[in-house]
Amino acid sequence: MMEYTDRYFRYFARLISRHTLLYTEMVTTAALIHGDRARFLAYDASEHPLALQLGGSDPHDLAACAQMAEQAGYAEVNLNCGCPSDRVQNGSFGACLMKTPQLVGDAVAAMVDAVSIPVTVKNRIGVDDMDSYEHLRDFVGTVSERGCQSFAVHARKAWLKGLSPKQNRDIPPLQYELVQRLKRDFPHLEIILNGGVTSLDEAEEHLRQVDGVMIGREAYHNPWILADADTRLFGARQGPGSREQVLQAFIPFVEEQLRAGVRLGHITRHILGLYNGQPGARRFRRHLSENTWRRPDDIAVLHEAQALIGPLPAPEH
Ligand SMILES: Cc1cc2nc3c(=O)[nH]c(=O)nc-3n(C[C@H](O)[C@H](O)[C@H](O)COP(=O)(O)O)c2cc1C
Repeated sequence: MMEYTDRYFRYFARLISRHTLLYTEMVTTAALIHGDRARFLAYDASEHPLALQLGGSDPHDLAACAQMAEQAGYAEVNLNCGCPSDRVQNGSFGACLMKTPQLVGDAVAAMVDAVSIPVTVKNRIGVDDMDSYEHLRDFVGTVSERGCQSFAVHARKAWLKGLSPKQNRDIPPLQYELVQRLKRDFPHLEIILNGGVTSLDEAEEHLRQVDGVMIGREAYHNPWILADADTRLFGARQGPGSREQVLQAFIPFVEEQLRAGVRLGHITRHILGLYNGQPGARRFRRHLSENTWRRPDDIAVLHEAQALIGPLPAPEH
């Protein structure tokens, strides 16, 4: 998720769940080919398993970028066919690719030829008036024939004109039944459901009918929902411990980043939701929000915020 799932958030999320698959922000082929490639590909080994998401439509460029992903050690490379922003449409990629399944098929085939890591696709259930189940089925059929075995499907269509990207994540109704039907029609493919999932209970319910669940906003804003994922869904014996333990484990990483010149707020903005629903959560958030930018290299801000967790002390008489 752009601006959200950067390496700082991913490092933090990994301390909460070791087994969930994490995704990078979308990185465009132009950024990788012409930009600061090392920066866009950088991650910490602990973030594995980690998928690099690419934005682009030129098969040759996508193949070259898939190779970069493989060389950098990513577990998977994912092609974005779901983002509806204008900027992405001007580059003719993202959700508008759902209108050109042959081109997506060519891109996937070129990527699959270039690498041995899985090449996967993230798509919507439809775009504009191309929103019938038949169109979705043909898109997945065409693209899977060219070598993609796994589709993460945001169970909403996107309106490319008239709705903002944010509105396109909320206004078109969720149609889980179309994603479930895809799984029935393509039992050999991995079908991952995305959109509106806010708890592991819901995820488990979906898992009766699909192979995986992708959680976006809730995992970011309320990351502790991932805390039971390893034990409930991946058969692990141990979860992450407490929120305090996660924060303690995060601090050496933050210190290392501060020494490298990263500003505290760039990192702590991703952990504001850690204590959601707990006593003191608001104080924790406020302390970080108010102080990290004033004291951008002072790790004490984080310790102070943590000390604010818990019920307020009883007033003295
Ligand atoms: C701020 C933001 C940035 C996003 N960036 C991406 C992105 O880079 N690539 C992508 O495939 N989806 C992106 N999405 C969409 C999410 O991956 C997801 O499909 C959508 O939010 C619905 O799932 P959710 O209800 O679990 O959040 C983004 C969503 C948000 C809120």
